[in-house]
Amino acid sequence: MTISQQRIGPARNEVHAHRGASAVAPENTIAAFRAAAEQGCKWVELDVALLQDGTAVVIHDVSVDRCSSSRGNLGDMVAADIESIDAGSWFSEAYRGEALPTLALAIERLGDLGLNLNVEIKQHAHHTSLAQLTETVHSHLRKRAPHTEIVISSFDAESLKAMHRLDPDYELAMLWSELPRDWVDVLASIPANTIHLNYKSLSFGFLEEASRREIKVRAWTCNAPHLLRPFWGAGLTGVITDDPSLFLT
Ligand code: G3P
Ligand code: MG
Repeated sequence: MTISQQRIGPARNEVHAHRGASAVAPENTIAAFRAAAEQGCKWVELDVALLQDGTAVVIHDVSVDRCSSSRGNLGDMVAADIESIDAGSWFSEAYRGEALPTLALAIERLGDLGLNLNVEIKQHAHHTSLAQLTETVHSHLRKRAPHTEIVISSFDAESLKAMHRLDPDYELAMLWSELPRDWVDVLASIPANTIHLNYKSLSFGFLEEASRREIKVRAWTCNAPHLLRPFWGAGLTGVITDDPSLFLT
């Protein structure tokens, strides 16, 4: 490979907008997903959890405190409680009134926007049933627009195993902050063929072994393209970033 042929960035289809384009719009809202689409991004990552009544909602934290103008824990809330939540003005007055989306709404809008979906399943202490969590996610995904591609990611291997049982065709991504010594065995037990790894934990040796095993590797959450540049030619597949525009030039 000549220097001019070496990859200096990800393929356009391998840039995932982390919680939507969360650098420019409130995270995990339709506005953030729209902003990702406007930047030419093809994928969004979003976080999913259940309310007390089993409603699947798109939110990172276990409470609405940080990312809305309301207060409360997801485990104490039902669908009616989130209907009037303002999930935008904490970020900027321009987004006042932005909804805290249900997963159902997010999937519908992502279909309209032509975006693919990286669903991160959050396993919170108030979730009483893994089956309820994964079956709820699965039933919503079945209603997605036909062109919508899916990756299911989670820090919880059991959630990924459950999703595999529901549909063996899902692309499953194990999330790690640091690579465990038994990463090959954990992937095989799910089974999964993708790792989403904190970009600070990347190494050439790991990428070489992942490539040899035909394991895809995406790095999160990187907002500094120069830090990943050495890895694109070494087996890194994609990036999850708050600011897709940085990687889509
Ligand atoms: O998908 C990568 C990233 O979303 C994992 O961490 O805490 O931002 O959900 P977190
Ligand atoms: Mg996430």
